[in-house]
Amino acid sequence: KRAQESSDYEQMERASKFFAHQLRHHTNSSRVIDYLKGRGLSGDIVKQFQIGYAPDGWDGLLSALGSDQRSKQQLVDLKLVNQNDQGRLYDFFRDRVMFPIRDRRGRVVGFGGRILEGDGPKYLNSPETRIFHKGRELYGFYEARQANRELEQVVIVEGYMDVVALAQAGISFAVASLGTATTTEQLQMLFRATRKVVCCYDGDRAGRDAAWRALENALPLLNDGIELSFLFLPDGEDPDTLVRKEGADEFARRLQQAQSFTDYFFAHLTETIDVQSDAGKSLLLKQAKPLIERIASDFYRETLMERLARLLRRETSQLEAQIKAPERAKP
Ligand code: GTP
Ligand code: MN
Ligand code: MN
Ligand code: MN
Ligand code: MN
Repeated sequence: KRAQESSDYEQMERASKFFAHQLRHHTNSSRVIDYLKGRGLSGDIVKQFQIGYAPDGWDGLLSALGSDQRSKQQLVDLKLVNQNDQGRLYDFFRDRVMFPIRDRRGRVVGFGGRILEGDGPKYLNSPETRIFHKGRELYGFYEARQANRELEQVVIVEGYMDVVALAQAGISFAVASLGTATTTEQLQMLFRATRKVVCCYDGDRAGRDAAWRALENALPLLNDGIELSFLFLPDGEDPDTLVRKEGADEFARRLQQAQSFTDYFFAHLTETIDVQSDAGKSLLLKQAKPLIERIASDFYRETLMERLARLLRRETSQLEAQIKAPERAKP
């Protein structure tokens, strides 16, 4: 199994090199390079993230890396090559800009592929494989660690292009959860590397929903000394469009002014609740209680209880009887 894994990582690295090579040497390469330039990316940043191009034929990668039956099967297992009903093999990624996804140790475990133009899904992501588990990886985490001796903070964004555009602007500490909600596992990985995480999703409905889900997933990780905050972007903007429009200094200023976990917690819960009425107060208590109970740190839990007590016009001691600490994990 070990031997197979290491050969899987080698094959993924070869695929990434193949795509990077195609970006420079394929007959379409000026079209792809123009696309990347049009999105504000320099050659340096393209190299740093080993961004590539999957050619538009059906078997570019297959013929380059599938020399024998065994390597063909491996490409199928790694979901770089598909098999149709007639048993014919063909490249999974075709005519797409390729973003290699590296694990914590820098090994390529999957790809995101963006369509250049035309029909079809905007992004295709590698399906899960024996070496790729989406909820466990963060795009750009390895690159961020390479770029910073110490990670003072990490910004979580939604997309590949957000990570790369921020790095291009000099903000080299952004990572992206891979198209899904940010998981507890991903947040845990980040909090092992830094004390401060800012969630910065797109300024749209999906982005705001993603922020609340990230907050819920972060509750068991909120230990003393940890800082979690939320940067909400203007409607229609994402980190890529905003940093290109406003520049890195303005984006950094926005990061500094991100909403604290506590402020966001109550702002969100009271968005649709009238806390002046008893009905509202009881509803707020009912919604806040199970969330507060999941918080790891006594200090943060108490801070939220005090704030809740003020909103409910109760003594904190009255709430303490109702709100329990989470069960400690067994040693
Ligand atoms: P750009 O248009 O290149 O700037 O992409 P974006 O990252 O701004 O796209 P968007 O905000 O729509 O989506 C955010 C992230 O969700 C992307 O980076 C992808 O990881 C994922 N995503 C977007 N569109 C698709 C899709 O069609 N299919 C899948 N599987 N994932 C997608
Ligand atoms: Mn979006
Ligand atoms: Mn909501
Ligand atoms: Mn976006
Ligand atoms: Mn975008």
